[in-house]
Amino acid sequence: MKDESVVTNYSLFDDKELDNTIRPETIEEYIGQTDVKENIKVFVEAAKIRNEPLDHVLLYGPPGLGKTTLAFIIAHEMGTHIKTASGPSIEKTGDLAAILSSLEPGDVLFIDEIHRMPRYIEEILYPAMEDFSLDIIVGSEGNSRNIRIDLPPFTLVGATTRAGDLSSPLRDRFGIISKLQYYTVPELESIIKRTARVLDVKIDDDAAFELAKRSRGTPRVANRLFKRVRDFALVRNNGVVSNEITMDALDRLKVDYLGLDNTDHELLLAIINKFNGGPVGIEAIASSIGEEVTTIEDVYEPYLLQMGLLKRTSRGRVVTDKAYDLLEIPRKK
Ligand SMILES: Nc1ncnc2c1ncn2[C@@H]1O[C@H](COP(=O)(O)OP(=O)(O)OP(=O)(O)O)[C@@H](O)[C@H]1O
Ligand SMILES: [Mg+2]
Repeated sequence: MKDESVVTNYSLFDDKELDNTIRPETIEEYIGQTDVKENIKVFVEAAKIRNEPLDHVLLYGPPGLGKTTLAFIIAHEMGTHIKTASGPSIEKTGDLAAILSSLEPGDVLFIDEIHRMPRYIEEILYPAMEDFSLDIIVGSEGNSRNIRIDLPPFTLVGATTRAGDLSSPLRDRFGIISKLQYYTVPELESIIKRTARVLDVKIDDDAAFELAKRSRGTPRVANRLFKRVRDFALVRNNGVVSNEITMDALDRLKVDYLGLDNTDHELLLAIINKFNGGPVGIEAIASSIGEEVTTIEDVYEPYLLQMGLLKRTSRGRVVTDKAYDLLEIPRKK
């Protein structure tokens, strides 16, 4: 089902509805991430031959690279059901116990933002992951006892943008740990063309290439930009996404030729103008541009580092010569 009406505000990262419409369902449709994909294929195949559930999987990497998509694909390839939860939504031990005891043999339990799960909840997860058992305390204080419940064998798939925030006992219980990488331009071109096919939109090759270059290595951004450009094409060009329409729309959306948006520019400019190019701590940057530290660390910084516009040093963040060139600001000697 196509839903045209969901997004009114422009944001590169929030569009869960669109995500669901165009999410690939099989591992063959999942573009890029070749190493991760090949490994998972082998592990899935082996688990099926042994007639066992797949080992627990931890997927990590920046937002929008396809962690949730891959979790659903894993369940699909294993031929099982998936139950989903997110770290911050599991507040009480009872919440997790309820989810775990609702699983059927072989099911995938997907926990998104697993680094945000409280520590006391994690502790319940350890025996569940290791021995498929649930240790819970029942009764009130002074009159409580431990009971142990057997769980069906299952696969936990955890996703996080911050593997470093996971406690090591939790991390150690994942048999498969995969880091998702930024996508290459050709991979993003394929993703954009696939989305165009699914949404039944005509797109020219050079337009797909231009969009891919400006998608900051991220499929979600590629799909978001595609969707916005499609609107310009519909109004101005009978729905055909041409290169001209694309260039014009991207300018209007203030996405530069590297895929950087206003916030990226503000961030770099703040370091240059207010902190003399750095080094400067992340907290100072965050407060000077009015963003959360975690948003900068998870969303903006990884791509700026990847593009060589920003460097991390022991004394803080420093902008590079490449950033001065991009912003056309002469470097003070
Ligand atoms: N490998 C891929 N091939 C094709 N499309 C993809 C791929 N990876 C992601 N996508 C598309 O990008 C969108 C975002 O992916 P997804 O929601 O899985 O990212 P995520 O890593 O879970 O992000 P977050 O960290 O914000 O939860 C999906 O709707 C999907 O359509
Ligand atoms: Mg996700």
